Amino acid sequence: MRLTFTIQRFNPEVDSIPHPQEIRLDVGRGMTVLDALIRIKNECDGSLALRYSCRSAICGSCAMTVNGSEKLACRTSLRKELERHGHITVAPLRNLPVIKDLVVDMASFWGKIRDVHPWLVSAARHAPEGVPAQTKARDDANPEFHNVDACIMCGACVAACTVHEVSKGFAGPAALAKADRFLSDPRESPSSIRARLSALQDEHGIWDCTRCNFCVEVCPKDVKPMEAIIRLRRASLEQGFTTAGGARHIVGFTELVEQQGRLNEAIMPLKVVGFAPQGISRIMPLGIKMFLKGKVPNPFGHALPGLSQLQAFIRRVRRAGPLV
Ligand code: SF4
Ligand code: SF4
Ligand code: FES
Repeated sequence: MRLTFTIQRFNPEVDSIPHPQEIRLDVGRGMTVLDALIRIKNECDGSLALRYSCRSAICGSCAMTVNGSEKLACRTSLRKELERHGHITVAPLRNLPVIKDLVVDMASFWGKIRDVHPWLVSAARHAPEGVPAQTKARDDANPEFHNVDACIMCGACVAACTVHEVSKGFAGPAALAKADRFLSDPRESPSSIRARLSALQDEHGIWDCTRCNFCVEVCPKDVKPMEAIIRLRRASLEQGFTTAGGARHIVGFTELVEQQGRLNEAIMPLKVVGFAPQGISRIMPLGIKMFLKGKVPNPFGHALPGLSQLQAFIRRVRRAGPLV
């Protein structure tokens, strides 16, 4: 079968902006997008730049945008893409600087991974010569890494992340999932866990995630980064980190529901920004607009019937852990 591929091309030495190129190729049964791209490079246009190595969904280097979604080209079937979309369009990963054609600059990705200190900080004794003693987990420790250790660092989740799209400083799903992996490690020292969580409270940390779920949808290894972020948030609340805006939102939300049986939108913004003049002046313009349009409910509205049952229920859930 002869297929037309639309490939986004960009050579910084001659192009000011990326442009699509159509290339026709005879394809056979069972071919992947990567198989086709390698043949295009070898048979049609040797100047096409792409990254790949293992061809087996292990190294993570062939992640790209195929028909609008982040995929590993080496495990994306041409036939399935054709059946689903009727065409094959290939572009580099989004939201990362393009070096050439399908190759993106992963420097910021690796920088964020480094920022979460992706190594064990163990309380294990040090040998006299300064070399850490063996850090083997106890046989009965049975650590549960929630599959975050399956990450192959392909960058697909970061490219799909809606927060990273608008805020390049966001730590991002892959780095946060990596941080979660060390939280689950029984050899990690408690003080290090606390230090890790503390570092993630800042702007661009765990509370910036909007829980859009795109990182979960595109991850080829089922790492579920968003769930890792939720675990980090839960652990943060358990350790008493409640000053970040996102943490205050959760605490304030649950307090209001517990007190009144419903969310009170008139009080909720104050729960998040507090009573500091700086915070109040930030929300005041929106509050006035809402008030003038009749959108601010009575902050002293009546309690709902059945409130005591709800409160008993919340107390019971609280005993199992923080409400995140
Ligand atoms: S769930 Fe959070 S980390 Fe994942 S893609 Fe959405 S905003 Fe990004
Ligand atoms: S979490 Fe999944 S999508 Fe993100 S870098 Fe790791 S393997 Fe790739
Ligand atoms: S070439 Fe290694 S993951 Fe695709």
